[in-house]
Amino acid sequence: MHAFTHPPLLRRTLLGLAVATALGASQAPAGEVEVLHWWTSGGEARAANVLKELMEAEGHGWQDFAVAGGGGETAMTVLKSRAMSGNPPSAAQIKGPEIQEWGELGLLGNLDDVAEQGGWNALLPETVADVMRHDGQYVAVPVNVHRVNWLWANPAVLEAAGVEMPTSLDELFAAGEAIREAGYVPLAHGGQAWQDATVFESVLLATGGVDFYRQALVELDPEALGGDEMVEALTTFKRLRELMDDDMSGRDWNIATSMVIEGDAAMQLMGDWAKGEFTAAGLTAGEDYLCAAAPGTGEAFTYNIDSLAMFRVTDEAEHEAQQTLARLVLEPTFQEAFNLAKGSIPARPDLDMGAFDQCAQQSLADFQRTAEAGGLVPSMAHGMAVRADVQGAIFDVVTNYFNARDMEAEEAARRMVNTAQAAL
Ligand code: GAL
Repeated sequence: MHAFTHPPLLRRTLLGLAVATALGASQAPAGEVEVLHWWTSGGEARAANVLKELMEAEGHGWQDFAVAGGGGETAMTVLKSRAMSGNPPSAAQIKGPEIQEWGELGLLGNLDDVAEQGGWNALLPETVADVMRHDGQYVAVPVNVHRVNWLWANPAVLEAAGVEMPTSLDELFAAGEAIREAGYVPLAHGGQAWQDATVFESVLLATGGVDFYRQALVELDPEALGGDEMVEALTTFKRLRELMDDDMSGRDWNIATSMVIEGDAAMQLMGDWAKGEFTAAGLTAGEDYLCAAAPGTGEAFTYNIDSLAMFRVTDEAEHEAQQTLARLVLEPTFQEAFNLAKGSIPARPDLDMGAFDQCAQQSLADFQRTAEAGGLVPSMAHGMAVRADVQGAIFDVVTNYFNARDMEAEEAARRMVNTAQAAL
């Protein structure tokens, strides 16, 4: 048949096919996903970029909706206003019990098809899978497992002060004194509510132990919240101010990490997204920086699982793009590249960890060990333990007490009880 005898429609279709083949596009229509997250520090942005590139390689568009602010409080506020105006993004970093809140509003899309094709049920630990389902259906996909109870340190500064990595709170206070005398800031900290809460929960875990942590910060048991152990946790937490510097108010967490990197400060109590900053600075774990469980918490693991929830959409191409995003997130390529940059460990435990550093290896080993021994607990400070309103109220008590000149620990403990009662 002569080429010019093709009817116009067929010609257009053939042309379309040729273009699609030339671009290497998949069968699915190219869609765009708008993804809300708060991964804006150096390490975090590198990690987020992995997903953007993988999506673009599949022919889909990525619209970055990054809202700065560690811990994600601002991002969640922005998300709520977008959702209220009937225009949520296609995907958002939503975590823990908050996934259920969005699910209850009926706003989340269903990922069961992707989950079935990818065998998520067999792939994911039940602790992880459980958080991703609403009403028995997958509505979110986990990107990683962060550990919150970590201590990071600059070995050169420790050496200059003649101290070792502390393993108990007593050792931490003693080391802090020596570090201060040697002319360094012992503990880098950023005075923001979520960072105060991050440090507080690690201290409470050390002074009270795993069972107390669970009773107080997961079950919101009034006796635990208002009792002597809480008073001890609060008092010890406030004592940590001795190890911090005067300029900490409002400081971002990654700036605090850079104080450790630069050798101005010795240590930081922070989740392993801090490792993303050390990595982005080209530093090697075990040599240029050290990691250890937060002092006194070696038998515990406070987990923080980042996840992307998908909003219900009507556009077919956007739906396709969402399904692709969900699929890619659990594939080995993404899990390895993203988590190497982010500082976390993969959400799927079957991956070869050969490329990961010793802190990540320890994290995985401790995750598995504590899961068996009963020391694996959800992080309150990172939205894994209680609903967002309760978490916010606990943040207020913790941060007000930490910054108040004259509030007694007993008074803060009483406020904890009131907070929890209002929530029940
Ligand atoms: C956490 C989040 C991490 C990291 C951190 C600092 O809540 O899970 O991925 O971004 O905040 O922003």
